[in-house]
Order: sequence, then C-alpha cells, then structure tokens
Amino acid sequence: MSSVKVGLLGLGTVGAGTVNLLERNNDEIARRAGRGIEVVVAATRHPERPRGCSTADIRVTSDPFEVVDDPETEIVIELIGGYEPARELVLRAIDNGKHVVTANKALIAKYGNEIFERARAQGVSVSFEAAVAGGIPIIKSIREGLTGNRIEWLAGIINGTANFILSEMFYAGREFGDVLSEAQRLGYAEADPSFDIEGVDAAHKLTILASIAFGIPLQFDKIHVEGIGHVTREDVAYAEQMGYRIKHLGIARQSEEGVELRVHPTLLPERQLLANVDGVMNAVMVMGDAVGPTLYYGAGAGAEPTASAVVADLVDVVRSMNVEPDHRVPHLAFQSSALSDAPVLTMASVETAYYLRLEVADQPGVLADITRILGDHGISIEAILQKEPAPGADTVPVILLTHRVFERQMDEAQARMEALEAVQGRVTRIRCENLQ
Ligand code: HSE
Repeated sequence: MSSVKVGLLGLGTVGAGTVNLLERNNDEIARRAGRGIEVVVAATRHPERPRGCSTADIRVTSDPFEVVDDPETEIVIELIGGYEPARELVLRAIDNGKHVVTANKALIAKYGNEIFERARAQGVSVSFEAAVAGGIPIIKSIREGLTGNRIEWLAGIINGTANFILSEMFYAGREFGDVLSEAQRLGYAEADPSFDIEGVDAAHKLTILASIAFGIPLQFDKIHVEGIGHVTREDVAYAEQMGYRIKHLGIARQSEEGVELRVHPTLLPERQLLANVDGVMNAVMVMGDAVGPTLYYGAGAGAEPTASAVVADLVDVVRSMNVEPDHRVPHLAFQSSALSDAPVLTMASVETAYYLRLEVADQPGVLADITRILGDHGISIEAILQKEPAPGADTVPVILLTHRVFERQMDEAQARMEALEAVQGRVTRIRCENLQ
C-alpha cells in the first residue's frame, strides 16, 4: 500500500525532530501503522536557513497555505504554535478534508471547541497528544487507558520551565531571574517566557486535561492562574524546613458542587512523588475511582520527546482512517453530545491548607494578634516558625502552616492580618496540598 503523505507547518525544533524520527524509525512505524508515513511538503518562515533535519525529499515553502491546500496530503501537522495564523490554517486544513495533528496547547485550549466541531462536521480527526506534557502519553492514558474510571482529580507539573526554576532555587539557592535567563538560553521557555512564569502555558495544558478527564467543554478563560513570580528563595527554604517542596501545579478536581480548575505554586509534602520531580521534567498524577492514584512522568518538552507524541498521533490517525468518524475515540474522550455543564467553582469555595509568611514588628503580642485573627475565622494552625531578625532589621519573618480551610475564610483573615500595624506589607500565601 502506498505511504500516507503528510504536510508539515513549522520546521523548527519539534518539526525537525518529527522529520528525523519518521525517517529513523520508518520501518517500525510502518509496521505499526500498516502504511509508511512520509512528510512531502513543509512550510517555514525561513526556507533558506539550515535545518536540524534533512529536507532532501521535502518540498519546502514559505507559504503555509500551500501546505494546507496541497491535494496530495491526507494529514497536516501543525507545529507553528500560537493562536493565529494557526487557527486559520487548521480550520482550512479541516475544510480541505485533512486530518490534523497539533502540538499547539494554546490553540486547543482556546479554540478547541470550535475546531473539534468543524472536524466532526468534516469527518476528520484532530489529535493533540503533543500539546500536553510533551512526550508523556497523558492524553491517551486518560482518554483511553482510564476510560472505565470516574476521574476524581488530577494534578500535574506541566510546565518544565517553571519546574526548572523552582528546582534550581531549591537545590542551588539561586535567584529567580538568574535561573530564568538560563532556561531561556537552554531553549525550554516559550517564545514569550511570561507564559511559563505567569502560569498561562500550564493553564492551557490544564484546560485540555480537565476536559478529557471530566468530559467538560474546554474553558480556558475560567481557570484560576497564578505563576511563580512571587515565590522567593526564602519561601523555598522555609518550606523545606517544614518538610515541604514548592511546585507549580495544575490541579483539576470534580465534586458534587462543580469543577475546580487552578494553576498555582503549591507546597507538597517532601515524601510525595510529585514533590521529587525536578528540572524540566513533567509529571501528572491522576486519581481514578477504580484504579486509585496513577503517575505519569517524562520529558515535557524538547525535539524528540515532543516528536514522539506527534508520531504516535500520526500512527493513530493512519490506523483509523477507514473507521467511521462516529466510531473514532471522541476528541474530548466523552461523546460530544454528552459533555457535562458542571459549573467551574470560584476560588472562594476551594478548600486547601496554606503556607503564610508575614514580616512583622519584633514586639510583644504580635503573634497573639495573628493567631487570634486566624482563630476568629475558624483557621487552625498546624505549624509555626519564627526566624530571628536579620542583622540590623527590626522585623522578623513568621511562617505558618494551616489546616484546610475555604479560600473565602483565608481571604477575610488575610485582610485583617494585613491591617495590623505590626504586619509589614502583604502576607505571602501559598496553597498546600497533600494529594491524598
Ligand atoms: N515552555 C513549555 C515548558 C514547553 O516549559 O514546559 C513545553 O510545552
């Protein structure tokens, strides 16, 4: 049987990795897919530049529409990233009757509902394994491997850059800005690194994971997003003294009341497996009612890890080309007509424990005032740590760990603590989870 012809949008790191992988493992891929898979046309903004792969057998163009309109191809791989022109190109490929494989988390998180609807109408598939956690087959695991379970929650380290920065702050005591520059130099960070630092990249990925876990529409705009910009080296060290590690997590949980969708720095007990995922590695923990906790770990970015996911999608598409569209695995794991309208809960009704750090005047009665306020709001203290003042300073840091409370209780208590004359500036507050 002739090989399947593929068009490629983007010949950067992942594009070159995909071409190399298809070439290197050509035989095994064909034995798995039943047909060979061949990139015949690729678009890149700079066709003249040297590439990380051979393009001898590929027609290279600077016009991406030449790829999506090419009559010879049956699949388009979109690896250009961002919202536009990726959205326009993907919709046009679908309208041309082509299947799409994409690594574009931003595109799927924001426009996935529209894109999947168009794909269903055209009887083609859109695959996006590479959009979340790079080479980890997390989409496939949740969408197919755990399909017998009611997923209760999932929590993941899904941004390698943020994890690299927090790991360096922990192990080497380095400052945030210094580590970020290194992450950019090493090529981990997004084109706009604020997406990594401010949690937007993780929110894109969590949007996708939550939808396939709970069968809800993609709702990127409803996620609570916090980055790692306010986490200091001191917080990392104090957390360690109390037996915790700080990780940037995406957390989705469903309950009778609705769905929690949140991305934020989180204290995890140091014995937790997720707390020990370091550097640029990603990991996602998924709790199913039948299977219990499961953990998926691997490289969340990079040329060949991401290409591994792209090629897995290509093989899936080729295997299911002759399958009736209604009999394919649904894009969001649940039948599109059976998506749930469970509400996304506000943060005020989310329950977590807290790490608090206050800079307070070194005078009698201050701790009593703070603990009274917490008590007034029904907040129980689990641990407390007071450090001696730095040389020449007249304030001291006080660190508290609380039991679980609703966020609205903590909001009220925090406002009252910050109004105390003895409390300097804002209270630093980081949520704690034990993921039991
Ligand atoms: N900037 C992303 C990260 C790349 O650091 O995880 C992979 O999506």
